[in-house]
This record gives sequence, C-alpha cells and structure tokens, in this order.
Amino acid sequence: MSTLPPEGEGERLQKVLARAGYGSRRACDELVAEGRVTVNGVPAEPGRRVAPGRDLVAVDGAPVGILPDHVVYLLNKPAGVITTASDPEGRPTVLGLVPPEPRVFPVGRLDVPTEGLLLMTNDGQLAQLLAHPSHGVEKEYLAELEGDPTPAALRRLREGVEIEPGVVTAPARVARRAPGVVRIVIHEGRYRQVRRMCAAVGFPVRRLVRTRIGPLVDPHLPPGQYRRLDAGEVRALAEAAAAGPGRPAAKGRRARRAAASPVPAAGR
Ligand code: URA
Repeated sequence: MSTLPPEGEGERLQKVLARAGYGSRRACDELVAEGRVTVNGVPAEPGRRVAPGRDLVAVDGAPVGILPDHVVYLLNKPAGVITTASDPEGRPTVLGLVPPEPRVFPVGRLDVPTEGLLLMTNDGQLAQLLAHPSHGVEKEYLAELEGDPTPAALRRLREGVEIEPGVVTAPARVARRAPGVVRIVIHEGRYRQVRRMCAAVGFPVRRLVRTRIGPLVDPHLPPGQYRRLDAGEVRALAEAAAAGPGRPAAKGRRARRAAASPVPAAGR
C-alpha cells in the first residue's frame, strides 16, 4: 500500500508503542492484535511500521506521541511569571523556567498572578488535543477568597455563573475546604474563568493555585521548578483528553498521592 513506509523504513509499531508507555513489546503486540491500535485512522496490522513525524498512531482513539524527541514538562508556575514567550514589559516568562532546548511552548495559560501546574511541550499534536475545547480535560484549582463563601454562592458556582453578558459557565465541582478556601474543578478554559466566577458570586479571589490537570498532580514540585512527564503520564493525559469533557482523572499513583495530601506545595 502506498501509505506504508517502504520495506525496512520507519520503526516497528510495537517499539514505538512500548516507548510511549504501553508496556512490553509483547503487550503492545496484543494491543495491535486486539484491533485497538490505528495508524492514520486505520486499524493496524501486526508487523506494521510507522514513520515518526508522519504517521498518526492512536490506541483506543487516544493519540500516541511517537517522536522520540518529544518532551512534555509539568511546571509549577510561581505568581508574577507570564505565560507567553516574551513580554514587552520585561516580566519573567515561563520559558525562562525550562531548558532552552528543545524549544517548548505552554499548553493553555495561567494568568500572571495565578500559580500552579502548567504543561509545556514541543508536541503540537498533544497540545492541540489538550487545548481543544471539545476535549475539556478537567482542571482543579484551590482558591483563597475574600470572605467565606455562603452556601448560596457555592451553589451558584456549581450550577454555572454569568461571567459576562450572555456567557454562563458550565456546571463545576466546588467544595469549601476551609473558611474562605474552595476547591473548584472546571473543564472549560475561559479567560480568567475562576477569578471571574468567584467575583460574580461576590467573593473575589485573593490567591489562585492550579493543583491538577486531568490525571496530573504533583504536590511535591516546588514553585518555579519543572519535571519531565514520563511516557505513562503522557499517555494518561492523552487518554483523558480523548475521553472527552469532564471525565474523571486516571486513578494512578500520583492521583492517590494527591488525595492523601490535598494542599500542594504551591498552595501552602
Ligand atoms: N482561572 C483564572 O481565573 N485564572 C487562571 O489562570 C486560570 C483559571
């Protein structure tokens, strides 16, 4: 077939899947045999070879990053750092907190005073998948408010709030964690959404920390530090995005660790 790399070119699919965190080559063979792997949308045959950078590989519909030089960083953004490549006002940017090579870019944004988890990658396909509103990976925030929210305010946050004329937020999960502190889980990514939601119900935000992106949490990552995600984490992220809006995070080691320690380093 013309879509196959010429004999001997490209990499064996099992090798690519194993590198992307799908288990041993044998386990990856089984995934192929079960018809769960597609290449460019077509179920893959055993022995299929793929060309990194050209072929789109997916498992159960979740895209698999197949370039060996792709990186995904999880950064704990401190307050005061801007989520763009450069700032005319000369403020520090998130690019200054990660290595210059390979060149990565932020996935979505946190506004300047907001702290917490931000993804950065050079994988355009993954970034596109995560950024697309129809995928709506859950994002969790810890917000310190001006005042202790009333039950009515919490209910409004949960049900949806008009944050600008004609724009009502989707239902959110909201829990009061302590006097004046709420945990908010949303799957939309509107401009300054959490701040505008809280202000709209009469309790403006004093401090805002993003503590989870889909299945990813890391209460031990210090502010200003980043770490590279491993293949299993990238895979869990892609799966969460492919599963669609508001799907629960994977129940992984890190998610359990977060449950045991709900306040992140950045949120203390
Ligand atoms: N909501 C906000 O208000 N700010 C952010 O940076 C992210 C979500």
